[in-house]
Amino acid sequence: MEKILQQALEYGKQYTPIGKVASYIPELHKSSQSDLGIYIKTLDGKGYGVGAYDKKFTIQSISKVIVLTLALMDKGCEKVFKKVGVEATGDPFNSIVRLELKHLQKPLNPMINAGAIATTSLIHGKNGTEQILRILEFAKLLSDNPEVDINQEVYESEIKTGDRNRSLAYFMKSSGVIEGDVESLIEVYFKQCSIEMTCQDLARIGAIYSNNGLCPKTHRQLIPKTICRMVMAIMTTCGLYDASGEFAVRVGIPAKSGVGGGILAAVPNKLGIGVYGPALDEKGNSVGGVEMLAYLADRLDLSIF
Ligand code: DON
Repeated sequence: MEKILQQALEYGKQYTPIGKVASYIPELHKSSQSDLGIYIKTLDGKGYGVGAYDKKFTIQSISKVIVLTLALMDKGCEKVFKKVGVEATGDPFNSIVRLELKHLQKPLNPMINAGAIATTSLIHGKNGTEQILRILEFAKLLSDNPEVDINQEVYESEIKTGDRNRSLAYFMKSSGVIEGDVESLIEVYFKQCSIEMTCQDLARIGAIYSNNGLCPKTHRQLIPKTICRMVMAIMTTCGLYDASGEFAVRVGIPAKSGVGGGILAAVPNKLGIGVYGPALDEKGNSVGGVEMLAYLADRLDLSIF
């Protein structure tokens, strides 16, 4: 396994020079263009990592998977899917255009920013502080890492520059998709995006999703099986935004990317994968990360299709 991972890393490294590190959140721009790492966690508890696999980065949109899961556990699928759809989008992750279409009235899916903000609003808690604490606790539980925390610098950078997300949230408040205090909601959303993890943490989370929500280490059912399946389906169809179709064709693994450069992937009944590579393609996905996954899917026959 180490040898194949090393080959995948070398293959992926060829692509990092053509990507760009995110700059619209200024703090993210400090990441190193050439960093690339991957960690695999198998369901029998073995772990393999190469490259920058123990470097911390903010999970950004990968938090949408964790928060969707928690919202479904808190509220049930009927209430969640009343507020957010499950259809793929051909638009960029931060697009506002479809929110105004009369026949839709709710964001297309929970993996785009609008849908994620609406999903965050459904997390139980009497205020934003309680909501983010519950999200953070759940992230610690899934990653089996009590040290997981929020990167304050990235959070502050997002809060200063996140006007597009504020616009999405205010628009959704005006159309009745979300209720309550928008500023408090947007703070929770930026904090969940600023949660910091390593590839190892992501791989452990991936292993839980790949094992139908059952923790392979403790044998505790951390996520109900039906919810786990729904989230994996949404990762497959919407996890890489307007590149989800191409990713399904080339790689075929349920996955979720973030502009911090991370990708969480879960191969059903086999393994969890965490990837880090902050050089992004034009759609906001790790360019080296996607290539590594394509290489591994081919070599290890990981596609679900
Ligand atoms: O809201 C944002 O724009 C970021 N905090 C997260 C976006 C993101 O990760 C999109 N991923 N590829």
